[in-house]
Amino acid sequence: MLLENLVTPGLLTAAYLIASILMISALGGLSRHETAVRGNLYGALGMALAVLATIAGSQVTSYTVVAITLAIGLVIGYIAAYKVKMTGMPAMVGLLNSFGGLSSALVGYASYLDAMTRVYNPPWTAAEQAIHSTEVYLGVLIGSLTFTGSVVAFAKLNEYITTKPVYLPGRHFINLGIGIACIFIGIQFVGADLDTGILYLILMTILSGIFGVHLVMAIGGADMPVVIAVLNTYSGWAATVTGFVLSNNMLIIAGTLVGGSGIILSYLMCKAMNRSLLSVMAGGFGEAGGTVVTGAGAEQGEVVPITAEDTGDLLASAKEIIIVPGYGMAVAQAQHAISEITRKLREQGVQVRFAIHPVAGRMPGHMNVLLAEAKIPYDIVLEMDEINEDFPQTDAVLVIGANDIVNPSALDDPNSPIAGMPVLEVWKAKTVIVMKRSMATGFAGVQNPLFFKDNTRMLFGDARKSVDAILGSI
Ligand code: TAP
Repeated sequence: MLLENLVTPGLLTAAYLIASILMISALGGLSRHETAVRGNLYGALGMALAVLATIAGSQVTSYTVVAITLAIGLVIGYIAAYKVKMTGMPAMVGLLNSFGGLSSALVGYASYLDAMTRVYNPPWTAAEQAIHSTEVYLGVLIGSLTFTGSVVAFAKLNEYITTKPVYLPGRHFINLGIGIACIFIGIQFVGADLDTGILYLILMTILSGIFGVHLVMAIGGADMPVVIAVLNTYSGWAATVTGFVLSNNMLIIAGTLVGGSGIILSYLMCKAMNRSLLSVMAGGFGEAGGTVVTGAGAEQGEVVPITAEDTGDLLASAKEIIIVPGYGMAVAQAQHAISEITRKLREQGVQVRFAIHPVAGRMPGHMNVLLAEAKIPYDIVLEMDEINEDFPQTDAVLVIGANDIVNPSALDDPNSPIAGMPVLEVWKAKTVIVMKRSMATGFAGVQNPLFFKDNTRMLFGDARKSVDAILGSI
């Protein structure tokens, strides 16, 4: 074929090397606001180069099949990128993880059938065959559990099924039993002939698929973002194993980058929520004293409402203000109006800063992306650790559509389902204004004592409308 003749093995290695460097640069770029867009571009370029080089390589035998699948993928990807809202991104990532897992499992099957039915020249030694079977087995195992686990995570995040943890009795024993069965079947599989081997592979695929469903069904509430990061990691490792199956260095490198960075992200998210990865994966968040937390929880006293006009007066007379954005700001798309308020107040000599909780919103960096989009200067956007000690010296805190991340019961109430999660200690400021539509709970389904504190004022209504009204009155 023409391309095959053009792309020599040396050229292919060079293309893979450049693509790998671009992907590593992408991870570096994505670590800071200022370089995030560039990082994204590097990642896209790296992936495009990797795909093109692979298509041009000698392993591709039919350009028609590749062209059709590429066209389908491009159309779906393009539509999804435009249609899915920022708040739907975690669910979308969950779905994409499931595709990664499914393709690893399918490639494992294809490679096994290919290897077992093809006569090799020279034929494989027993050791080579065992290594290949082990790679296939691991790829299908991780791929299958990633696929079913990610589909469940997607359904939970989109609330197609209950978002609460769902347990089977003796679930840890069930998981242990499936794990032991998969090891046992794996030992039988390696070295088995094609007819029995394929049966072992199908049996393990079913078991690991059930394991994925069972594992993620038991997790709920605020732990879901960590689960998505963990499943992302699995999809990376599944790709790495598939890279070994296909002897494709690019896939090994890209899979390892996804797997490795996913582990770091999962760790950082657990740290931000004061949870251990083991306790997240064992399930139980969103559960109190053995009962799943359901409704809004008990109310704890009187709330004091405030009008937008009074809020405007209060902000204009303050010297130091901290704004805490949360998921509700994303829903209301209030970031541009907030940017305008920030500009006006700063012109009047008020110090305005933003406090970002690591799990505010519905995905890592969610608030940073929205604030950057609204052109809020990076230097006034601070992470929780950088600003949490400044609340006692702050005149007014504006909480926009945030709830769990400013819940004092995380620190005060050891029985709270979110006990131990570090939160923004906004109640230490002189006055706190909370903007939300009702007394409804946030993602974790826990009532928030902040709303009933003496120095808290509730500004009820859609955050966008409230912010516009405040803007009008400043
Ligand atoms: P939440 O605790 O979910 O609270 C958001 C609040 O916004 C709700 O109480 C809601 O109250 C209010 N709201 C919704 N729409 C609004 C609108 N149009 N105008 C005004 N208010 C509106 O959000 P948070 O404080 O950002 O905390 C994030 C939570 O999500 C954590 O529990 C976190 O673990 C979890 N989570 C995080 C991620 C990541 S990685 N960031 C991913 C998934 C889940 P009303 O209904 O009364 O308006």
